[in-house]
Amino acid sequence: MSPTHQGPDLYSRAEEAAEAIRRATGDPAPRIAVVLGSGLNGLVERFADRRVVPYSQIPHFPTPTVAGHAGNVVIGSVDGAEAILLQGRFHYYEGHDLRTVTFPVRVLQRLGVQTLILTAATGGVRPELRPGNLVCLSDHLNLIGTNPLRGPNDPRFGERFPDMTEVYSKKLRNSAKEEARRLGVQLVSAVYACLPGPSYETPAEIRMLRALGADVVGMSTAPEAIVARQAGMDVLGLALVTNAAAGVLPSPIRHEDVLEAGARSAPMLGKLIRRVILRVAGVAPGNVGFSGEFPTYRPD
Ligand code: HPA
Repeated sequence: MSPTHQGPDLYSRAEEAAEAIRRATGDPAPRIAVVLGSGLNGLVERFADRRVVPYSQIPHFPTPTVAGHAGNVVIGSVDGAEAILLQGRFHYYEGHDLRTVTFPVRVLQRLGVQTLILTAATGGVRPELRPGNLVCLSDHLNLIGTNPLRGPNDPRFGERFPDMTEVYSKKLRNSAKEEARRLGVQLVSAVYACLPGPSYETPAEIRMLRALGADVVGMSTAPEAIVARQAGMDVLGLALVTNAAAGVLPSPIRHEDVLEAGARSAPMLGKLIRRVILRVAGVAPGNVGFSGEFPTYRPD
């Protein structure tokens, strides 16, 4: 049985977990949080004054099972602005139900987080997208086949039927685009198709996703975004294209390549995230321009 289905109700479990984090790191918690996806865990190094709480020391927290996913809540700062970083996330394909997958977002809600930045590795469904491209999620297709809000609703978390018209905040998207421009990094808008995995898609499935209006495909993010919206958070989704989706190129998709491409592009994404954090915190960013190599996106 999953850890979030035992003992006290979900709200109390989230509160107990939040309390453990508060005790370990000091009160009050930052109001902005970042979930780090596959290959992006190294981004924590870009934050100073880090306080680390392993998931294993937080009551009711599940433990990640995937290589490349550490398991820590980290509180760190960039130029004086603090953020909570979730180093390692939970996925439906690991066997967790979606309430377990999204439990950390509930804990962030109890900690008072108002802005959530979700990061992810994705496959490029749109043929022009190449490994190393960075996309800003404009919307998603939840094709997991279930919903994290399924089951009894605790009104202390939010509404039974929350609106999903603007899952990914337009204001945050505009901010991210402006900061990307300042860094000289291309940030393309993309609709994210969320599939259960863990197998990568077939070429026929990718053609189907393209017909449905998807630009990128992944196995995370959408359930967390849904829960965060129910919680009233503003959500920003930043995704790296780590590979061309199945059938776009003749080569097969290998998990090692996905992780490697994620790690290669992480510095660029890290800089962008730092600037977005500073902007949300109302701090003027210093000169943190990006000078590394990144592939150019060329629309038709
Ligand atoms: N498909 C699904 N999830 C992914 C992919 C992909 O091609 N690349 C990285 N995450």
